[in-house]
Amino acid sequence: MTDSSFIRWEVTDRVATVTIDRQKKLNALNPDVIQELGAAFESLRSDDEVLGVILTGAGEKAFVAGADIGVLAEMDPATGVEVSRQGQSVFRAIETFPKPVLAAVGGYALGGGCELALACHLRIASENARFGLPEVGLGIIPGYGGTIRMARLVGLGRAIEMTLTGEMIDADRAREFGLVNSVVPRDELDEAAGKLMGTIVSNGPVALKWALESVYNALDSTTEEAQRFESSLFGLLAATDDMREGMHAFMEKRKAQFKGE
Ligand code: CAA
Repeated sequence: MTDSSFIRWEVTDRVATVTIDRQKKLNALNPDVIQELGAAFESLRSDDEVLGVILTGAGEKAFVAGADIGVLAEMDPATGVEVSRQGQSVFRAIETFPKPVLAAVGGYALGGGCELALACHLRIASENARFGLPEVGLGIIPGYGGTIRMARLVGLGRAIEMTLTGEMIDADRAREFGLVNSVVPRDELDEAAGKLMGTIVSNGPVALKWALESVYNALDSTTEEAQRFESSLFGLLAATDDMREGMHAFMEKRKAQFKGE
């Protein structure tokens, strides 16, 4: 178990579970929480023992209820840009993390909390989860990448509706939108997240890393560029021991033992 003031993580079966713990404020993100979150992912990036990350919030009520409104209330134009850039940069580090990151959302994921879930590669929600971008009700807009990632994930019409109404949607609607991959009872969330991540990290680590890179690269490329990038990575995988192991294991009818090289 590793602890800082607001972030703790533990590793089980080569999967790190990172918990945002500021329960009194429903895990709202102030600059210290975001800085510690960034530092946690920085450590996990180079930890060879860790193959994937589950990100969650402490307590039954919230994943993260947004950026800290007390901090936002004090901002001026210059500090406003800094607040936004700090969140954007840490969330981008999560999106470009070289190992799969799964958000386990138990309760409210609002504003910056919803944006944090969007920056993860996959999302699984409890039945009591609520998603929303309530920023316009505070006279601001989503500032941690939400105006970019929501439309990519759920489509323009749904993203515009969520962004302009500020209304929350429940877990079932979020699944219908494609905002979450699955919905489970609250007391099964941790187990379901562990099971899904267990399935993912049983695959080749280099393949997982480059699959993510290829998918996300395609979002900002032309089809031609994205195809060239995909075929380069596909070719490079032929240089890995993992590729030989994966294919030999299939032919020998046994489970592959990947080494991540
Ligand atoms: N920032 C600061 N404090 C927050 C917070 C937030 N985003 N969300 C909740 N809290 C605090 C409350 O102020 C309260 O603190 P006190 O006990 O000291 O008064 C505590 O957490 C518990 O919250 P509530 O009493 O409000 O709990 P509730 O069950 O009645 O309501 C809720 C829950 C619907 C989530 C409600 O707390 C709420 O609407 N929170 C704000 C959600 C929001 O607007 N988020 C977007 C923030 S802006 C943003 O994120 C900008 C960005 O993109 C960068």
